[in-house]
Amino acid sequence: MRKFVHICDSAQSLAEHARDWLVAKIQEHQSTSVSPYSVALSGGSTPKLLYRLLGELPEGDIDWKRVILVWGDERNVSWDHADSNYRMVRESLLDHIEIPAENVLKAPDAGGEPQRAAELYEQILRDRLPTTPEGLPALNAVLLGIGDDVHTASLFPFTKALNETSRLVCENWVEKLDTWRITMTAIWLNSADDIAFLISGSGKKQALKTLWSDRQDLNAYPAQAIQPTSGRLWYLVDRDAVGDIPLPQDATARHIGVN
Ligand code: 6PG
Repeated sequence: MRKFVHICDSAQSLAEHARDWLVAKIQEHQSTSVSPYSVALSGGSTPKLLYRLLGELPEGDIDWKRVILVWGDERNVSWDHADSNYRMVRESLLDHIEIPAENVLKAPDAGGEPQRAAELYEQILRDRLPTTPEGLPALNAVLLGIGDDVHTASLFPFTKALNETSRLVCENWVEKLDTWRITMTAIWLNSADDIAFLISGSGKKQALKTLWSDRQDLNAYPAQAIQPTSGRLWYLVDRDAVGDIPLPQDATARHIGVN
């Protein structure tokens, strides 16, 4: 596994760097492959600025007709609900780009039935995404955030989805939020070519310290379970999030914007 830490000076420069990082990945793929490039989007607030910057790209920078957008996790709400990750991406990105509707694979609105929504979503993604040699739907890039409790996607501490070893998407009851979530499972997320955590702000420092600590406990700290099977792991972070935390010894670190 190849692990990289890119440290940016601010939230703005982090979002710009993440934009440039993703554009480069997509363009590299589109220059060498006819298959669509799949991106599993993160929810939450951190990636909103990145999505807005992607929506402001000059026409032609990304051939969106050859990109498929999916969601790494979703709240179990309707598409127009204030908590919907799909709605957040629609407002920050989809409303500003020309992407075919069939390339936007949002979690189905299963009328509030979480297991049915998860099963339907997994089938949609299996049907629509190219299949890898290992027989999995291909995830080219996965964008992730991290919560204060070191959750990622909707893999929360001590929840059932952490122990899923066969399903690619599953429903997950999150007691602390008193709500159902739909989430890709770690076994599928880890199959991606490039997994990028986008972590910004001093409020994330303790979670990042735990994520990078030697004290491994995948049930207590689910984001530690994100270890690419054969791909690359990127921590795209800003200075406020890193502070004086020791960087992972096995990572290649770069301070972005510093020559
Ligand atoms: C979600 C996300 C979740 C998010 C973290 C961080 O659906 O909320 O997938 O995993 O990335 O909770 O959220 P913030 O970016 O808002 O801090």
